[in-house]
Amino acid sequence: MVKLSYSSALVKSSIYDVIKDLPKAELHLHIEGTLEPELLFQIARRNQVSIPYQTVQELRLAYKFNNLQDFLDIYYAGASVLIHEQDFYDLTWAYLERAYQQNICHVEIFFDPQTHTDRGISFDVVINGITKALENAQKRWGITFHVFMCFLRHLDEISAIKTLETALPYRSKIIGVGLDSSENGHPPSKFERVFAKARQEGFLTVAHAGEEGPPNYIWQALDLLKVMRIDHGNRAMEDEVLLSTLAKRQVPLTMCPLSNMKLNVIRQLTDHPLKKMLDKGILVTVNSDDPAYFGGYLNENYQVIAKALNLSVAQIGILAKNSFQASVMGADQKEQYFKQVDRIISQYP
Ligand code: ADE
Ligand code: ZN
Repeated sequence: MVKLSYSSALVKSSIYDVIKDLPKAELHLHIEGTLEPELLFQIARRNQVSIPYQTVQELRLAYKFNNLQDFLDIYYAGASVLIHEQDFYDLTWAYLERAYQQNICHVEIFFDPQTHTDRGISFDVVINGITKALENAQKRWGITFHVFMCFLRHLDEISAIKTLETALPYRSKIIGVGLDSSENGHPPSKFERVFAKARQEGFLTVAHAGEEGPPNYIWQALDLLKVMRIDHGNRAMEDEVLLSTLAKRQVPLTMCPLSNMKLNVIRQLTDHPLKKMLDKGILVTVNSDDPAYFGGYLNENYQVIAKALNLSVAQIGILAKNSFQASVMGADQKEQYFKQVDRIISQYP
């Protein structure tokens, strides 16, 4: 009996060590969702923006959400302190410091241009601040990166088209477009034309789908928006044909366990569909979504899901490999990371 609990403690620490040791890519990360309360207060003070909370503790206490919309209301309010290029730089740099500490070697991050341009902040302020931080992290730590801009789906098509036009001069800094914000009532079909234009202009496409919305929104993202990845995709579980299509076409799902918990997409982590999807051969990845709001960065997401679903070391290795496979990086770079993952996994029982 004693021996059994001793060995299970060893196995548990192995899983946590392997998560720390493995190189990983993060593919579903809203940079505005990395704004920690401390930095939020610091930036609000220097920009003389007033916020309806007195202290960091008070703000953190407000991070209780019943659903996606509850979160989005606070998330957009938080982003309103970001005004100058330096603010976007500091925000991005703070995330990259964490990424480096967590052995994240490649990031593909989202930003929401309309959240800022609708407040009168110019597009170049936002993209320049974000990009400069990414370039510095690449120089300093070798973290490679790509940037996707998301259209806010609660706004209309015209606003998305204007945003795409505004982004065209910055094409070299933005690899693709995505779709985020309030999902229900805002199907991918609403954005079919702007995504077609984005593809014509050479942008890659991804979209949030099946977080709160029905499986049909995932079909629409695939068939109408021609996305290369689905962000979240939890509700694919309700449609067997969709599941086998995702597996057959190897369409990646960028899943976010802590986000799903905090936004009541799942009742408890043990209900998370990630393992069932892995078992069906779907290319699932683990990501942090909006870590400042959901209580953990990438490694914490791996840890909680590994524990809740009793994932093996080999399955953690598959998730790390999937993160590179689902990324935009070139085949040679992917191969290098696959080898690194295999070497590290082979050192664990
Ligand atoms: N914007 C930031 N995080 C989001 C999420 N989890 N779903 C939809 N839009 C978002
Ligand atoms: Zn997201």
